[in-house]
Parts: sequence; structure tokens; C-alpha cells
Amino acid sequence: MPDSAHDVVVGRDVVLTRGSRVAIAASDFTVPGGCITAIIGPNGSGKSTLLHAIAGLIPVTSGNLTVLGATPEISQPKISYVLQYTTIPAGTPLTVAEAVGMGRYPSLGFLGRPTKDDKAKVTAAMERLDIADLAKRHLTELSGGQRQRVYVAQGIAQDHAMLLLDEPLTGLDITSAKTIDAIIHDEPTRGCSVILTTHDLEEARAADHVILTAGRVVASGTPEYVLTAENLTNAYGLGALHETHGSDPMLPSEHHHGHDHTNSHDGHAGE
Ligand SMILES: Nc1ncnc2c1ncn2[C@@H]1O[C@H](COP(=O)(O)OP(=O)(O)OP(=O)(O)O)[C@@H](O)[C@H]1O
Ligand SMILES: [Mg+2]
Repeated sequence: MPDSAHDVVVGRDVVLTRGSRVAIAASDFTVPGGCITAIIGPNGSGKSTLLHAIAGLIPVTSGNLTVLGATPEISQPKISYVLQYTTIPAGTPLTVAEAVGMGRYPSLGFLGRPTKDDKAKVTAAMERLDIADLAKRHLTELSGGQRQRVYVAQGIAQDHAMLLLDEPLTGLDITSAKTIDAIIHDEPTRGCSVILTTHDLEEARAADHVILTAGRVVASGTPEYVLTAENLTNAYGLGALHETHGSDPMLPSEHHHGHDHTNSHDGHAGE
């Protein structure tokens, strides 16, 4: 685990509001560089809000948030953000290759025309997500899992030092989840820091670093430090500890397999 000198995100007394509501009350947290960080917490606990702030999409109400050594707004071009749901309006006649190609838009040159290098990066991203054979298909002709792979491909096609993924594995079958999981683990080997949100306790345990949210950051640190019975009770209430196996706290929605998401969850509410 890199020491604090290599933290890519440092939040001190950070308050984040959505509309007139405080979504994250004054909180301290860090994200170590070149690692996988999982943000976990109940619905409406502020996970997406935290990602939005790190991505520089919403302002910090008070406190101090540093991302890649600067303000989130300044660092924004180095951050690739795969949203929890699509921002592409349904019915947009966009093919898979075009959607992934949009990942290159921020770095297109003078005439805005993709170079050989841009095209190579789009092809490589499609191959890494195993969607090259879908290149000419329209987004509307894809399954949810295939579409999710397209959005991740778009995210990695973009030049980035940090990859933010909002619930990248929620609702996916094992094949799609494995494909995206492989990308998540591959990114740090390329020097990229990954921050993802999840509802899966096993996924959080498998991360290098964890931030637990419940209207504020309850704890930030290693999985062992953060995912204690006390912290989980704090975040989820006593119900979270009903299904305990030995001394190991489990959430009610936990599954045998890390990617076997069967819990219903209205992840899009309030967005
Ligand atoms: N655009 C918005 N305008 C007003 N309030 C919002 C907006 N987006 C989120 N909120 C509120 O902010 C709080 C935090 O929401 P957020 O989306 O960050 O939660 P979350 O942890 O990502 O939840 P989920 O697990 O359902 O995705 C909630 O109370 C939510 O209702
Ligand atoms: Mg969310």
C-alpha cells in the first residue's frame, strides 16, 4: 500500500450537497495511488455523490478536496468516469464503435478528426472488453450487460490517470462481470488508480482500500480496518449483522460469489 505521499485523493472536512440536501457531512478520506478503492454503503448514502465530486462534476460545499495534486476541476481531464447509468439519450442512433470513440473526444486535435492513434486506442478498448464483434451494432440493440461493457470501453479509450466506475458490476452476468473485473484489476498495472462503488461486501473486501459511506464517510482505510462489525452496524444499522457466520460480519444481501448480483436495488433513484 503506497504511503500518504502517494495519495491521489485527499479529502479533509469535505461537505457535499445535492440540491439543498447534505449528501456527505464533514468527512475525511484518502485514496492511495495505483490501487483499487471501493466505495460501499447503503442506497442514498452518498457513493455517487462522492464520485461526482472527485470527478469535478459537483463543487465541494466546504472543506478541502485534492485530486491528483490539484483541485478536482483542474484534474478533470485526467479522470475517466463511467457513470452508474447512461447519459446517452435512448434512441440516439449510435453504434458501439462510435460510442467507444467518444472516449477520444477530449483529446482530439485541431480538426477534431481521429488520428490512427485514436482509432487504435478505440479498437484496443473494444478488444479488451470483448465487444469488437459488436462494433457496428447500435447501442439500442445490445443487452444491458453488453451496453455496460461499451461504457467501460469508452472510459478506458479515454486518456486517463484515474478511472471512476459507478457500480460497474451491478446486474451483470458472470461473463460480463469477469470481463469488467479483469479491466479493473489490469488498470493499476498500467499505473492507473481505480475507484469504484459497489453494494457487494466481498468486492469491497477484495479491494486495496475501502471508503464506507452513510451520509458521511464512516471510515476510510484498508478493508480490514474499515469493514468491521462496528463500522458496518454504524452504516447499515443492526440488521446488517443478522446473518453472521462466526465473527465475520455479513450484509443481508451478500452472495456466495462476488459477482453474482441478485439483490434488487434501485441504484438510479434520486440521480
Ligand atoms: N441530483 C440530485 N438532486 C438532489 N438530490 C440528490 C441528487 N442526486 C442524489 N441526491 C440525494 O443525495 C443523497 C446521496 O445520493 P447518492 O446518489 O450519492 O447515493 P448512492 O450512495 O450513490 O446511492 P445508490 O446506492 O442508490 O446509488 C441521496 O439522499 C439522494 O437522494
Ligand atoms: Mg449511486
